[in-house]
Amino acid sequence: MKISVFGTGYVGLVTGVCFAEMGNDIICVDVDQRKVDMLKAGKSPIYEPGLDQLITNNIKAERIQFTTDAKTAIEKSDLLFIAVGTPSDVDGSADLKYVLEVAETLATYMNKHKVIVTKSTVPVGTCMKIKKAMEKAFAKRGVTHTYDIVSNPEFLREGCAIEDCLKPSRVVVGVESEHASEVMTRLYEPFLKNGNPMHVMDLLSSEMTKYAANAMLATKISLMNEFSRVCEKVGADIENVRRGIGSDFRIGPHFIFAGVGYGGSCFPKDVKALVKLGKDQDEHLEILDAVEKTNQLQRENFFHKIKNKMGHLKGKKIAMWGVAFKPGTDDIREAPALDLIQNFLDEGAQVVAFDPVAAGHAQEHFNNPSLMFADDQYKALEGASCLVVVTEWKSFKEPNFDKMKSLMKQPSIFDGRNIFSLKVMKEEGFDYISVGRPEIHKTK
Ligand SMILES: NC(=O)c1ccc[n+]([C@@H]2O[C@H](COP(=O)([O-])OP(=O)(O)OC[C@H]3O[C@@H](n4cnc5c(N)ncnc54)[C@H](O)[C@@H]3O)[C@@H](O)[C@H]2O)c1
Repeated sequence: MKISVFGTGYVGLVTGVCFAEMGNDIICVDVDQRKVDMLKAGKSPIYEPGLDQLITNNIKAERIQFTTDAKTAIEKSDLLFIAVGTPSDVDGSADLKYVLEVAETLATYMNKHKVIVTKSTVPVGTCMKIKKAMEKAFAKRGVTHTYDIVSNPEFLREGCAIEDCLKPSRVVVGVESEHASEVMTRLYEPFLKNGNPMHVMDLLSSEMTKYAANAMLATKISLMNEFSRVCEKVGADIENVRRGIGSDFRIGPHFIFAGVGYGGSCFPKDVKALVKLGKDQDEHLEILDAVEKTNQLQRENFFHKIKNKMGHLKGKKIAMWGVAFKPGTDDIREAPALDLIQNFLDEGAQVVAFDPVAAGHAQEHFNNPSLMFADDQYKALEGASCLVVVTEWKSFKEPNFDKMKSLMKQPSIFDGRNIFSLKVMKEEGFDYISVGRPEIHKTK
């Protein structure tokens, strides 16, 4: 199939590459010349395991092209995917500026019937807004073309996006016509050979499904984080509680890890957008309001625990392991590490952070001489008064504890992801404070 994908970010690029991998002819369009130049040279502008190789393979096989030339891409394609960003607006709603810009561009250059697919996460009713924007552009041109509109929300997880895209747990498709349903079924058939379902529904339900999915996952995390605060007060261990409830099939083992809170480019903004959507409909979403507040509180609590234990932070060196919002990505959008770093800097501390792939973005974000980046996880520890673990990268899980102790000024760890066992921390002689678990104090 001949497909163009607008937006070469975490979703658009992975989607385009995976469609190409199945043999389709893909044109990826972006307004960012720097990204397009990198992609043309076979280099991914984002870190996503396995992505570089797939880009190179598909360029070589002439199945994928990268361009800023929207007109040619539109004219040559039958399916047009919108995968641009939908960041939070000041009032919490999703800012549809980029989506509607693409809609206008599509109508400006359309030369025959097309299927237009929204992959960006958008509020319920956005497909109708896209249609309006297109009708306006057609009127301006004095030309009109027929088209099908489809909602096809994306559920991939950064860090395993290729796997999620090639073998989705389900595909959700909102349509208005039989033709659109047939086209989408044909496109996704090779991806669903494992028997996973494609759910075809109306446009509004499809748009709502994406928000409901993210809101449900964010709720699980915030609820566990609330439990963790009670555990700390009563002396219970949230990790035992997690195991105890996770084996109940009605609850399940996923997304019930307590920690320093969720971040990333999706949960924070999508929860806010759904709360705003409810408000616009005179429906106050009390649970989701609390989910968001709890998430913020969890970050603040963790910072206060560190500050209280350390006395004051002024002039102290704090080592930080991980700045990405989760392992497997260089994405730092809404990452808990950003709030923590800012708090430490505000207190006059010096922060030396290590992250295997996200350091560059964090450096750019802060551009502050009191925040430095080490090029290895141990170097970050030299002379540090404590270590703060914020992202659970694999290499942090079984470190050389003797080496850590020899480098640090004090053997003190604040673990925002509960990556170490209490038993090991006791045996290794660390002061150890984690989330929702009893504190460990070194005896020697
Ligand atoms: N990141 C995720 O894990 C994830 C998962 C599921 C859904 N989503 C949703 O997918 C959408 C995209 O997210 P993302 O993280 O890929 O965003 P991103 O910010 O990484 O990428 C967006 C890209 O769109 C480009 N762009 C902006 N205007 C354009 C235009 N007029 N024409 C062509 N390109 C244009 C930007 O230059 C940028 O490269 C969002 O709605 C997001 O909520 C994201």
